[in-house]
Amino acid sequence: MKLGTDIDKAAKIIRQGGLVAFPTETVFGLGADATNDHAVASIFATKGRPNFNPLIIHVANIEEAKKYVVWNETADILSQAYWPGALTLVLKRREPCAISLLASAGLDTLAIRVPNHSIAAALLKASNVPIAAPSANISGHVSATQAAHVASDFHDKDVYILDAQGAALGLESTVLYLAGGAPTLLRTGAISREALQETLGLTLDTINESHTQPTSPGQLLQHYAPRKKLRLNASSVLHDEALLAFGADVPQGARVVYNLSEAGNMDEAAANLFAMLRALDMTDARAIAAMPIPTYGLGEAINDRLRRAAH
Ligand code: TXA
Ligand code: MG
Repeated sequence: MKLGTDIDKAAKIIRQGGLVAFPTETVFGLGADATNDHAVASIFATKGRPNFNPLIIHVANIEEAKKYVVWNETADILSQAYWPGALTLVLKRREPCAISLLASAGLDTLAIRVPNHSIAAALLKASNVPIAAPSANISGHVSATQAAHVASDFHDKDVYILDAQGAALGLESTVLYLAGGAPTLLRTGAISREALQETLGLTLDTINESHTQPTSPGQLLQHYAPRKKLRLNASSVLHDEALLAFGADVPQGARVVYNLSEAGNMDEAAANLFAMLRALDMTDARAIAAMPIPTYGLGEAINDRLRRAAH
């Protein structure tokens, strides 16, 4: 961990795939290049998250946002009214999309916002990439509103912390789903429901963040799952199965093989997970078999996602 105020240095770290904690108007974010799967994997590894939650993508302005998501009229109205600011919009990913699939946990939607903070803005401008950033705290700790709090959480981690006043709001951004159906509040936050309802002239539906069961018809927080049947902990493979492998010792006979990490590196495996599941799903194999994945490091989160995907 290193505290500093050098924006150019921070931007260089981001471009090289490293982690920078930076102030926003809500809370500090733990940021990485959102287009770099490995950099995004290191966010999860550093936070110690036991599962892969989709992350918020921070961009410099509305035009940048439109490069990555399918825009619509509601997004237009709300972004004009609240950006830069503490409103995160969930929209469909554009196809193709430069943002890491891991950053959106394999989903075909993306959460995006333009932060309202001079340091965050300067970092986005200098690095010239979209920045994926969850709140800058160790998993299970409260969100950080001061650089010193970030420093204490990540004292033994490889993170450059931009030391500045920030987080005046102290409350995370409001997350609103606009990717289909009625606008739905996914997370209450710094911008009130009343304000949004007033701007839109309608009543917002609500979905509880912890509510991960599919809710018809939205299924807003549903986890990514392949269409093909997924068989876990496979020690051998059938001829009509595609194999999601891990490590150097791979069973023979699969129709297609994608290896998460031949070297057995968990961060590499995490970086590859969603893209490989999608690729396996596109093959002509009948089903997908996944080798057992050890549970050290990000292995716990990978196993969590595979279990959910197998249902
Ligand atoms: O104020 C904030 O929002 C801060 C600052 C750093 O921007 N960030 C933050 O990120 O709180 P995080 O990762 O702690 O929370 C992200 C929230 C989660 O509730 C997540 O479920 C939701 O956004 N989210 C992200 N992508 C989503 C998606 N594609 N669909 C539904 N929800 C999504
Ligand atoms: Mg958080």
